[in-house]
Amino acid sequence: MAEASESVPAGRPPTAPWTATVLTILPEIFPGPLGQSLAGRALAEARWRLEIVDIRGFARDKHRSVDDTPFGGGPGMVMRADVVDAAIAAVSADGAAGPLIYLSPRGRRLDQARVRDLAAGPGVVLLCGRFEGVDQRVLEARAVEELSIGDFVLSGGEPAAIVLIDACVRLLPGVVGAVSSLAEESFERGLLEYPHYTRPAEWQGRAVPAELLSGHHARIAAWRRRQAETITQTRRPDLWARHVAEHGSTKERNDEPD
Ligand SMILES: C[S@@+](CC[C@H](N)C(=O)[O-])C[C@H]1O[C@@H](n2cnc3c(N)ncnc32)[C@H](O)[C@@H]1O
Repeated sequence: MAEASESVPAGRPPTAPWTATVLTILPEIFPGPLGQSLAGRALAEARWRLEIVDIRGFARDKHRSVDDTPFGGGPGMVMRADVVDAAIAAVSADGAAGPLIYLSPRGRRLDQARVRDLAAGPGVVLLCGRFEGVDQRVLEARAVEELSIGDFVLSGGEPAAIVLIDACVRLLPGVVGAVSSLAEESFERGLLEYPHYTRPAEWQGRAVPAELLSGHHARIAAWRRRQAETITQTRRPDLWARHVAEHGSTKERNDEPD
């Protein structure tokens, strides 16, 4: 297992790329999926950096304990404030870039707007919890932001950190080849994305919508827009209400008198 002193480099170059610094007791989980495909290629091309810090390297006893029983009783263990704080102090002293975020089911729900903000900054410092979570005092003392990836409970923050990093990395310059594909994606304009089709044009008796075969760019764009609106309206009434309040809908505009 990597020691903290090995995994935190001394000093960062002033022009460092977007950097994800991850504090974890399971460093071997990384890079995991982040080492593959789009994110993995971008990592190899140094378009972003991943620094993994083993929280156990900051434990104070010979057993390298990072957790203890909860005051007040109850099941499970709690990650110790002093050990977590020492890990945070080490990465801060090293100039770790970006906000300090604890992945937590109690946090504000991560969304594409927050992902865009984070990707536009210098990076993120992510604290991954295990057991019952982290001693509240260090979260308060370090003014840690809490972010959740959804209303369910994972066994650790590492998968959530991977989700957050992946979502940010694909927005970094040069990572996704066709930038236009990002602009069309779900959430970019407050709508879910339209459906996609590829060859064959007919499969098991199902034909590709005629508009997409028309070669007529304006008709294709209008069809995709209508599909995106219908899908959003049906599947996510919350997003749809916000979208209509902010932008109106094609349907409404089409109904307006000239
Ligand atoms: C078993 S969970 C702890 C759950 C905690 N006792 C609770 O009920 O809120 C262990 C760790 O997984 C991570 N985690 C679990 N669910 C998450 C979620 N939905 N989003 C982000 N991180 C999550 C957090 O880092 C958490 O400290």
